[in-house]
Amino acid sequence: MKVVSIVGARPQLVKLAPIAAAFAETTHHHVIVHTGQHYDADLSDVFFSGLGIPRPDVHLGIGSGSHGEQTGRILAALDPVFAAQRPDWVLVYGDTNSTLAGAVAAVKMHLPVAHLEAGLRSFNRRMPEEHNRVLTDHAADLLLAPTEEAMGHLRAEGLGSRATLVGDVMVDVCQRVRDRVHADGEPPTGLPEGVDPRSPYLLCTLHRAENTDDPRRLAALVAALAALPVPVALLAHPRLVGRAAEQGLKLEQGAIRVGRPLPYAEMVRAVLGSVGVVTDSGGLQKEAYLLGRPCTTLRAETEWVETLHDDWNRLVADPAALGADAWAETATRRAPTAPQGTPYGDGHAARRVVRVLTGSDSTKE
Ligand code: UD1
Repeated sequence: MKVVSIVGARPQLVKLAPIAAAFAETTHHHVIVHTGQHYDADLSDVFFSGLGIPRPDVHLGIGSGSHGEQTGRILAALDPVFAAQRPDWVLVYGDTNSTLAGAVAAVKMHLPVAHLEAGLRSFNRRMPEEHNRVLTDHAADLLLAPTEEAMGHLRAEGLGSRATLVGDVMVDVCQRVRDRVHADGEPPTGLPEGVDPRSPYLLCTLHRAENTDDPRRLAALVAALAALPVPVALLAHPRLVGRAAEQGLKLEQGAIRVGRPLPYAEMVRAVLGSVGVVTDSGGLQKEAYLLGRPCTTLRAETEWVETLHDDWNRLVADPAALGADAWAETATRRAPTAPQGTPYGDGHAARRVVRVLTGSDSTKE
């Protein structure tokens, strides 16, 4: 059997790692197509090398553009790839423009499509990711859901018969890397200059379009981060750097120390070394939860509602509305004592995905 994985953006490479490893345990043929949506070494190459992912078989080199341009270019570029590969399944990941383009290109060629991380919903139709998820779920033939919550959303949209609960493949990779990081016991490296890894710091990322693209909103969020009472290690995504420059906004102010995005293992190390995480990333909310660090999410809603239980994650859409003291207290609060539970599965989701796709238990183990 031949399965073609379509990936393009950083979070998809993290999810690809355990899937590629699970396919490598079988005799099935797994083909990796990289759309090139992310092309910076920090956002792409280091994930292949760091997570031991085989080099992509096909690289489309699409790059950046408006949503229409980027999605359309990927869609057109996939036609000849699918015609040549004739896969038994096309596997798309998450909620990016690469996901939607992969799903649409495949259904138009009558190729079966499976969606990994199906059923997530923010119910915020202003997010590009929400359109991408909803449209991909409704186009796909097989919906691989990470959580019971996601299964519920799929059933509510009449998609229950195509859905199956496999767990979250990010648990597979996060636990494996966490164990390696614990075993070597090294302190975090690659933090922004001015952040001492032995003193308390908050780890921060900010890249969602709804936070970066509105100048007033971005300025307010940066001011709130700058006012925090501990150093804020801001690992700046190129979108954030670009938008801040366009808006004439200085990121390095007050408590904020600006650095570059980190490779996956360094990110896990940086979360473990921190007193907490402040982010708008879906993946990082979950990683904070899995690694036992409190998270403050700079959004009004989250797809990963399980992280909100027992105060492991708090939603703060508008830090200024909280008031300075409550905001500082929230961002620097201690980790809850309640255990996190295992709503995201047992760390063997990728093998389950491969078994569901191939319809057999053909792993060599
Ligand atoms: C994309 C996903 C988002 C995901 C994120 C992870 C969509 C709609 N959004 O957002 O869901 O959370 O990836 O990082 O697919 N850029 C570079 N170098 C790169 C890539 C991007 O400089 O390698 C800059 C460009 O200016 C580009 C901007 O970042 O225009 C945004 O990139 P894009 O791929 O459009 O979306 P992301 O914000 O990365």
